[in-house]
Amino acid sequence: MSTRGKFVTIEGCDGCGKSTQLAMLSEALGRRGIPCLFTREPGGSRIAERIREMLLDPANAEMTDECEALLYAAARVQHLREKVIPALEEGRLVVCDRYVDSSYAYQGEARGLGYEAVKAINRYALAPDVTIFLDLSPKEAFLRKHGADAGDRLESAGEAFHEKVYRGYLRIAEKEPERFLCIDARKTPEEIHREILSVLTGRGIL
Ligand code: TYD
Repeated sequence: MSTRGKFVTIEGCDGCGKSTQLAMLSEALGRRGIPCLFTREPGGSRIAERIREMLLDPANAEMTDECEALLYAAARVQHLREKVIPALEEGRLVVCDRYVDSSYAYQGEARGLGYEAVKAINRYALAPDVTIFLDLSPKEAFLRKHGADAGDRLESAGEAFHEKVYRGYLRIAEKEPERFLCIDARKTPEEIHREILSVLTGRGIL
């Protein structure tokens, strides 16, 4: 496996600018002619996309937290075996929009299942070489989107959930500082993009 490609995942709370950065990174890697695969979770393969529909369907309101965590893990392993591992074996750089850290933050912390349960459920998940966390608190993301006068709405239950997700990510940053790299997402998109390129270069990935 020593000649295999590298596996990079990108994480962050809602509104952190992840999509913008993924588009900029994809363009930069394309320009450099680096063979890569950009993919996302949940989804990225036919079966995993079917599971994604189930997970994100608002009609499935009665889905239990455990069922949710297991479905994310099921979609993950299917996508991994079908898409990620073959691309790595071809020596491609794989960049995945969300991965197992989303499960630690959303299911483990915000839903309250706990780190160990999520770890056990995800025993087949290959560890990423590097994870880039776009560090923007939900409060900052919300203010950026709606302006500083929208303060009260931050107190809603939805906001409390997203604060827990953010706390979950910060816990991973404490636990695994070597792999899980935080980038200050309050900077401009260009600054963040340059930082991502420099982190990946520093890790020998670019
Ligand atoms: P998506 O529309 O892809 O959101 P985003 O653009 O924020 O990435 O929806 C994915 C949702 O699934 C998102 O709210 C995060 C959540 N999620 C989990 O709760 N657990 C997981 O393991 C993963 C991969 C995603």
